[in-house]
Amino acid sequence: MYTSYISGLGHYVPENVVTNDDLAQLMDTNDAWIQERTGIKERRHIKKGDGNSTSIMGVKAATIALERAGIQPEEIDLIVFATLSPDMYFPGGGVQVQDLMGMRTIPALDVRNQCSGFVYALSVADQFVKTGMYKHVLVIGSENHSGGLDFTTRGRGVSVIFGDGAGAAVVSRNDKDKGGILSTHLHSEGKHKDELSLQGPSTNYWVPQIIAEDPQDDIPYYPYMNGQFVFKNAVVRFAEVIKEGLEANQLSVSDIDLLIPHQANLRISQFVQRKFKLSDDQVYNNIQKFGNTTAASIPIALSEAWEEGKVKSGDLIVLAAFGSGFTWGSAIIRWI
Ligand code: UT7
Repeated sequence: MYTSYISGLGHYVPENVVTNDDLAQLMDTNDAWIQERTGIKERRHIKKGDGNSTSIMGVKAATIALERAGIQPEEIDLIVFATLSPDMYFPGGGVQVQDLMGMRTIPALDVRNQCSGFVYALSVADQFVKTGMYKHVLVIGSENHSGGLDFTTRGRGVSVIFGDGAGAAVVSRNDKDKGGILSTHLHSEGKHKDELSLQGPSTNYWVPQIIAEDPQDDIPYYPYMNGQFVFKNAVVRFAEVIKEGLEANQLSVSDIDLLIPHQANLRISQFVQRKFKLSDDQVYNNIQKFGNTTAASIPIALSEAWEEGKVKSGDLIVLAAFGSGFTWGSAIIRWI
């Protein structure tokens, strides 16, 4: 068995800043409500004609990650691409990255685990590197939420939360030192699949049926979220899976140098922080400026924290996510 580590990180967000006041022009909402309930002040949205898409933002983030890892695109052995908002129904974003980055005919795998997507994708990369099958795996989380949200008052409970962006990590074989990705821990509970979901278009509910029914209220092609139910489950599962990861490595909460929770809602991160009695310096949040970017949120935050010098060699970094499925997971990393 080999060990693995993150050799490079990168992130990209579109230039177009959308404030809470901007959204209040489109729907019945206001800055005070959004900030109080979610902590979000602004988010980024792709602007028509700016050349961005889910895969293109992924490529921009990946290009930075590869540069920082000091490796060329042709050295990547596998792409794992996490998104809930792909450019196309099929094929997935991974193959587009393979093409756009001029990589060899390497495997490209898409992961569909929504807010837990990056942790799931990282876990897949970790296994392939640890078994010795691959040396460098490119992991991307990217989302174009703004392309598919309901920006009328009907959709306000969901649409104010989500933002666009991408983050990437190169997971490499570790022959340098001890440490790296110590373990990952993944879970699902499909009985709650409808609580945060997008029902169609899908093979259960295809386009002609949607057009024929002409739905006015429960529009199936916009996401649905039972916000309070998701919130209540999230705080429990975040805490559980962080503890599970620490215990698997004989570590405790006091060993954490930086917790990077999926940026679902600032109130959720604060709840977890209070539960574990962590200081402000031990928890990284950037939802205030980017909103919830689903599969992209952890790699954007990790990359940004690294740029700010908050992720240093020897640090214990804990990643944790929860979201649609429900799915949740954590990763315990001794940074190299
Ligand atoms: O990342 C994936 C996982 N997702 C999450 O973890 C999200 C978890 N849930 C949440 O973050 C919160 O539940 C929300 C931020 C989505 C909603 O906050 P809440 O405190 O649970 O509000 P609520 O849904 O109970 O709505 C309270 C009121 C309602 O009005 P009434 O029925 O009390 O008159 C809503 O219609 O707020 C209203 N409301 C809004 N008002 C202004 C809902 N959305 C908005 C809005 N602006 N954008």
